[in-house]
Amino acid sequence: MSAQPHCFDVCIIGTGAAGLNCALNIDETARVALISKGSLQLGATQWAQGGIAGVLSSEDSAEAHIQDTLIAGAGLCHRSAVEQTVAHSSQTILALEALGVPFTQESTGQKHLTREGGHSHRRIAHVADATGKAIHEKLIAACQTRTNLQFYSHWLAIDLLLKDGAVVGAHFINVQTGDSHIIHANKVILATGGASRAYLYSTNPDVSSGDGIAMAWRAGCRVANLEFNQFHPTALYHDKSRLLLSEAIRGEGGILTSGDEGHRFMSHYHPDAELAPRDVVARAIDTEMKRLGLKHVWLDISHIGAALVEKRFPTLVKQCLSFGYDLRTGPVPVVPAAHYTCGGVLTDLDGHTDLPNLYAIGEVACTGLHGANRLASNSLLECLVFGKKAAEHINKALITGSSPKPGTVVLPDRCEIDSATAMVTIAHNWDAIRRTMWNFVGICRSESRLLKAQEHLVYIENEIAQAFGGDCIHPHFVELKNLLLISQLIVRSALHRKESRGLHFMEDFPHLSEEAEDTVLRPAACPATEGLTNFQD
Ligand code: FAD
Ligand code: SIN
Repeated sequence: MSAQPHCFDVCIIGTGAAGLNCALNIDETARVALISKGSLQLGATQWAQGGIAGVLSSEDSAEAHIQDTLIAGAGLCHRSAVEQTVAHSSQTILALEALGVPFTQESTGQKHLTREGGHSHRRIAHVADATGKAIHEKLIAACQTRTNLQFYSHWLAIDLLLKDGAVVGAHFINVQTGDSHIIHANKVILATGGASRAYLYSTNPDVSSGDGIAMAWRAGCRVANLEFNQFHPTALYHDKSRLLLSEAIRGEGGILTSGDEGHRFMSHYHPDAELAPRDVVARAIDTEMKRLGLKHVWLDISHIGAALVEKRFPTLVKQCLSFGYDLRTGPVPVVPAAHYTCGGVLTDLDGHTDLPNLYAIGEVACTGLHGANRLASNSLLECLVFGKKAAEHINKALITGSSPKPGTVVLPDRCEIDSATAMVTIAHNWDAIRRTMWNFVGICRSESRLLKAQEHLVYIENEIAQAFGGDCIHPHFVELKNLLLISQLIVRSALHRKESRGLHFMEDFPHLSEEAEDTVLRPAACPATEGLTNFQD
């Protein structure tokens, strides 16, 4: 099969906070393609609740924000990435305000700042409890006024295209029509989000299947710190949903209790109780559930009064009511769920990867900001800061109007896998991967369970190979293959780390090593890594 390429100066894959802010900051003389595999709205950004961290109060300081980030990151944050992010926090939030994001205000007209675990100060700007939606809507609206940006929704990126070792575009499938497309571009930016859907229970939308990390790995990029999977402590315990119950609920006084007697347990685990760092709270809940044989613990904020709960968390009140729980008047059942991918495609401080012309920004990337555990509400900030940094880097050497010459690209044939048996095989293996990751690569790990996971994943790999033979250009198959690869990379990274650090807790290696080292995996196809100085293998 052959496809005529579409030609652009820049191709941004992903329309979350990272991709959109990058697009907005690219010189308007450049022609930019913006791609999303679902609707423009679908992604983790739209679902973000708590807010965006920044140094906004006179009682706070950049150094305090930096210290809190470094402490949460358990010795693995790269100070240069932390300093860059924090230094740009207040101007980033002001830029959002200039776009019209209606941050919640105090009666004095100042922004209301909330608190979340691991923060020594109130420093989270928010739009009630639906911050991501408010930010995303304004970024989309701003992008839609730009005539140099062209959107392609429901296009799934399959793989990057390389020429002489440099990235020159990507191959896509339109998931609605099944047609293949090629985009050629001088610069390609991966802004595809994280991989938390590799786990059975996750707070994330389906699109978080690690496609960008898998594509970058296959093309030859190093990936780092993939063992640090953040489990959010409080997702709703319900058959049909793991709706996130924002950490801001605990920031505003919410308490965690276990059992029917309502025993408040967090102070036994950490002096900051419910506001301890996220990994500590998630592990404490996991321990309580195992110790007492519980299916969930309870989160209760009703003591601050129904009116205040409703005012502060209007969206969550409504969403909980739809599942039969009233946040205003009593506790709701909660469990931890996979929430955030701290590792990813290795980048420098401009978002540039190992491959010429390829950038990675947002949750897909590992910039060194989060280390072994992300501090709450630092992610939206990272997306926006690194999105802009990447754009500025591209602007410096922008070549417009001369994107690689359109030629005919031969693509693998699209395969028909619409038979019921093939779809069942795909669904069955998706589920098998996610269960394996949940059961054997979860909050508390051990070497023997990780080895078991590795074995299961090889078995699944063989089953997929037997069922489908070679490569198959079908959206569900592409995502399945990516989920398998990302799960294998997570397990490999986890097996490599023989210590407990941040989010990676090993029962048989409970201590912290003296040396703090990144886990960097290098694919066979990785070129020399000149220019990426912030990470060593
Ligand atoms: P996303 O917003 O996830 O966007 C990914 C984009 O990539 C989508 O457009 C998707 O369609 C596209 N894509 C993916 N794969 C492909 C492919 N193969 N081809 C084409 N397109 C593709 N962080 C905070 O800082 N504060 C919070 O309050 C907060 N709350 C959160 C609440 C929830 C429920 C969740 C899930 C996360 C929360 N986070 C929060 C984390 C934060 O929202 C995310 O880390 C961040 O939004 C990621 O943005 P992104 O731009 O990297 O990716
Ligand atoms: C939340 O609102 O608890 C999510 C915050 C985050 O993931 O940063």
